[in-house]
Amino acid sequence: MSIPPVNLVIRKINITDLPYLEWEGEFAHFRRLYHEVYTQSLTRKAVMWLAEDPSHHLMGQLFIQLKTRRVDLADGRYRAYLFGFRVKPEYQNQGVGRQMLLKAEQDLIHRRFRRVCLNVIQTNPRARQFYQRYGYQVLGSDAGIWNYQDNDGLWHNMEEPAWRMEKELVQSISLMK
Ligand SMILES: CC(C)(COP(=O)(O)OP(=O)(O)OC[C@H]1O[C@@H](n2cnc3c(N)ncnc32)[C@H](O)[C@@H]1OP(=O)(O)O)[C@@H](O)C(=O)NCCC(=O)NCCS
Repeated sequence: MSIPPVNLVIRKINITDLPYLEWEGEFAHFRRLYHEVYTQSLTRKAVMWLAEDPSHHLMGQLFIQLKTRRVDLADGRYRAYLFGFRVKPEYQNQGVGRQMLLKAEQDLIHRRFRRVCLNVIQTNPRARQFYQRYGYQVLGSDAGIWNYQDNDGLWHNMEEPAWRMEKELVQSISLMK
């Protein structure tokens, strides 16, 4: 049985939205990370998107890094990096992720970016298929080493082997014509 697409609004995140990104505590450990990305969004180094239902319940989130020292990921001009993309389980498989991805890509096209890349964890083949369906190609693997400071100030060193995927945005415009 096909589930009808849900009504949703996709918009940029405000500072008052940040607590909701913690999903009732499940992602409280990313509180500092979210604040850091939000601060970067104020200087146009990042964009934070959310999807919400008509009652303003958070459905999902997606972040774009426009500029970072890691120019292989985001160089501030041509190449952007997609991360922190997740849709709440109760809203998955209803087209929310697809609409969020399209919105983020359209915004990048407006900013004249040409490529968007991302890391998808190798233990997540469904997400890899999802991106492939929308034109992302696997370029290779990435050790997926990164760290973050949790809400108690403790540092966590992560190692999440990933596939590096990339999509040419200019090409996708010509395909749409
Ligand atoms: C990956 C993720 C963001 C996709 O979001 P989503 O809202 O579920 O995505 P969509 O609904 O647009 O598409 C997902 C599936 O639903 C199907 N679908 C899309 N619209 C549909 C509709 N109206 N009715 C029924 N099915 C639909 C798609 O064909 C797709 O099929 P698949 O299961 O074979 O991939 C989400 O599944 C998620 O948060 N997963 C956990 C976190 C994660 O893996 N994040 C990615 C990290 S890189």
